[in-house]
Order: sequence, then C-alpha cells, then structure tokens
Amino acid sequence: MSRYFLPKPTRLGRRSMLGVMAGAASLPLSGLSLSGTAFANRPDPTILRAMPGQVPLLGDDLPPVSVWTYEQTVPGRLFRIRQGDELRVRFQNRLAEASSVHWHGVRLPNAMDGVPGLTQDPVPPGGEFEYAFTARDAGTFWYHSHENSAQQVARGLLGALIVEEAEPPAVDQDLLMVLDDWRIGEDGQLDLASFGSMHDVAHGGRLGNLATVNGRRSQDFAVRRGDRIRLRLLNGANARILLIRFSGHDAKVVALDGQPMAPVDLPANKPLPLAPAQRADLILDMGGDPGTEAPIEIAFGRKVLEIGRFVYDKQAVRRDNPLDAPIRLPDNPTFGTVERDGALRARLVMEGGAMGQFPDKLTLEGKAASVDDLVAAGLPWTLNGDASAISAEPLFRAAPGRTAIVEVVNNNRWAHAMHSHGHHMQLLSIDGKPLDQAPWRDTVLVESGETVELALVASEPGKWAFHCHMLEHATGGMMTWFQVG
Ligand code: C2O
Ligand code: CU
Repeated sequence: MSRYFLPKPTRLGRRSMLGVMAGAASLPLSGLSLSGTAFANRPDPTILRAMPGQVPLLGDDLPPVSVWTYEQTVPGRLFRIRQGDELRVRFQNRLAEASSVHWHGVRLPNAMDGVPGLTQDPVPPGGEFEYAFTARDAGTFWYHSHENSAQQVARGLLGALIVEEAEPPAVDQDLLMVLDDWRIGEDGQLDLASFGSMHDVAHGGRLGNLATVNGRRSQDFAVRRGDRIRLRLLNGANARILLIRFSGHDAKVVALDGQPMAPVDLPANKPLPLAPAQRADLILDMGGDPGTEAPIEIAFGRKVLEIGRFVYDKQAVRRDNPLDAPIRLPDNPTFGTVERDGALRARLVMEGGAMGQFPDKLTLEGKAASVDDLVAAGLPWTLNGDASAISAEPLFRAAPGRTAIVEVVNNNRWAHAMHSHGHHMQLLSIDGKPLDQAPWRDTVLVESGETVELALVASEPGKWAFHCHMLEHATGGMMTWFQVG
C-alpha cells in the first residue's frame, strides 16, 4: 500500500475500518478502487506551456522556423493515456497574447472544453488554467488553441492526445502521423504578414505551401514484412482538406474521429480524405518484401507529395505471411440512440464567402447589417443570416438525452468541415438521401451545395461550440453554439 494512504479520521473506530477494508471486495463500490492510489494524493498535473520556439520544419540543413509550441515541439507534447485515466494538465501561457486549450473530440465536462467566450475566460499572458477530465473514450484525439485559433494553430499550437483502449488490440506498431501545412515566406519563416487575410477568410482558408508529418517534411517508418500496424492519422491543417494514400498497401479504416467502427477497406492507392480536424485509425498488414520501400503520399493542391515512406528492414521479417484476420476495436461508451421521432430540429443555412450570395436580412452582433458592414468587420460568412463572431443565441437548446437533428444547408461555393464540441454526430442524410449507420464523427465535411442532416444526442450540460473547422471560416463568422440542459 502506498505511503500516501492516509485515510481521513472518521467516526468509524479502527475495528470497523478494518472491517470495511476486509469486506471491500464484496462492496458495490462501483468504480471506486480501494487500492492505495484511489486515496492517494492525486499526482501532480502535467505542465503544458504554450511558448515560442524554433523547429526544423524545413529540414536539418536549413535554419529552424520560429513557431509557437506546446513544450518546444511541433506538434506539441504528445499525451498518451489509458481509457478511464484522469488527465490533469496545468496549462501555462508563456505567449504575449491570451490563449486556451481545447480537447478536440473528447467528451468532458463543459468547463474543461477550453472555449473562451463560452466555457472559460481566455488565459492571459503569464496566466494558467488547470484542465482535468477522465478519458471516457479510447481513440485518437487532439488538442489545440481555441483563442485566436486561426493564427495560433497555424503557428503551431496543436498536438495529439492518444487514449489507449483498456485492452489495446494486438499490433506490432502503433504509429502516429500528425499532418499539417504551413505557409512559409521567402525568408524561410512563417508568413506572418498574411495572417488575417480577407482573401483567405472569404475563400478556402489559409492554405500552406509546406506539408509536414510530425513536424517534418517527410518521415521514414521502419517496418518489417508481416508487421501489423495501427496508423493514427490527424489532419491538423487550418483549412486544407488532405487526401492521403499508401502505395501498394491495402488498409482497413477501423476508427474515425476517435470512434471505432466496423472496418472499411481502403484499397491500395485509393486516397483517404481527411478534412481539417478529422482523424482516422487504420490497420495495415505489411506485405512488402524485405529491403523495399513504399511511399506515403498526399495530394497537395495539384501536386502529389511524398510525405513519408514505409521502409522495410533488409532482413528481419515479423511474419512470412501478413496477418489477415480483421481487427475490430472495442466500442466506446454509447453516444445514445438517435431518435428521429420527437427529435429537436434546427436548421443552419451557411451563406456568404467569395462568389457567394448573402441572405436579404443580415445581422451582426445583434444589429441589422449590410454586406459592406460584414466585410468591414472581417466577417464575410453568415449562419442563418448572422455573421457575429459568436452568436448571442444558441442554435438550439436540448435537454440531456434528447436527440437534436441539425439540417445544415451549404448554400455557398465552398466546402466546410462542421465540428460539434463535446458531442459526436451521425450523418443521417445527404441531399435527402438517407444514409445507413454512418459512423459517429466530431467533424463532418459538407460540400458546396449540399444539404445534410446531422444528429447528436445531447449529453453534458453546458454551452458547446459548433463551427466550421476551417479556422479562417470560423473566425469569419461560421461559429455558433448549442446549449445542453
Ligand atoms: Cu478543434 Cu472548436 O475545435
Ligand atoms: Cu468553412
């Protein structure tokens, strides 16, 4: 028993305390562990500092790039915890501007969601904030700044949060690829002058000219023939929709946005789309010959870039015949059942943007406005005619347990990656065509011209953001929220 086992004195005498201990195993103390740690002082939180840093984004033979980091790395410090564990993070802001940390895709109490203006005050320079929550879901998640996020995320304030299954599936390697893009100027540094560009806001967001995987232009992954690999992909780019493909290697998609699903085949060379903020977990059974290499490629504008390689060991072989029995990840706790009958319904019409039309009635921060007002305010996007940075009224209010169905109407020329905080959503239909059992996602790409129905089951009480994860669009007016309870 840990030396920290110091039960508070109670009215129970020593004898009855011993009796309680002896009978503990049979007591219905669900979730309460009587092994010393449950009573121990909680371990110190992990410190997470947002701070400027220099990283070799362009490679080791070129000068490092000045970025903003979590703990001096890009992507930021990796959190890897076990499902059911508590994560405690003391965020310290060492930047010259306010910031916050949002735990993307994680089910947690509203006060831990990290959204200034909705769930907490921004953390001022020199300030700190302690985030603490228990990881209910296993899966691939991430965290990023939610204050001035279009700039702060583009400068590097993002990282991965991996929550391992209580019993992880057997794989030979568990690999992470945090994909990102950066806009580098001619001086080899981040192009700061273009931050806030109205062109970016009104078009497809800030697209970079440098792609990275785990903060490098390319990464080699050492493998052996016969390896079974779990590959966790995360699109951390501000606005770029990525397509990734693995030459010569079939994969199975076993989770999206952290949530397990019935495995779906991803045949070799077929690209997997990942909108900003989306994640995918893949299983690959490595069938290449010793000594060979296989490129990992992304579509980047009109180019195809090699961002990594699987490099087979020259001799060593894990298995002569790669495994083929499928893996199915264990389910996470349920999100509830989508009840269409009696569901609360909301409609979200997205208009504006470059080459777009605007509704006749426009509002901005509670007042009637013109298109010129919107453009002058840097808010060229409207949700139901409102361009406010964050709307005064929620999109809907729902009691916990209630199904809410949002009809999202993309009435503009751009695709949008709609993200709901604290809740995963099910895509029920596209343009009126019902979908069967779509996976639960926290970010859904809605193409130009499409109308989709997104369903969620209201859970934790609080104010939850709902916005486009093309961060310039969110900054430009595509941000609203819903209230639970
Ligand atoms: Cu990953 Cu509100 O964001
Ligand atoms: Cu958008």
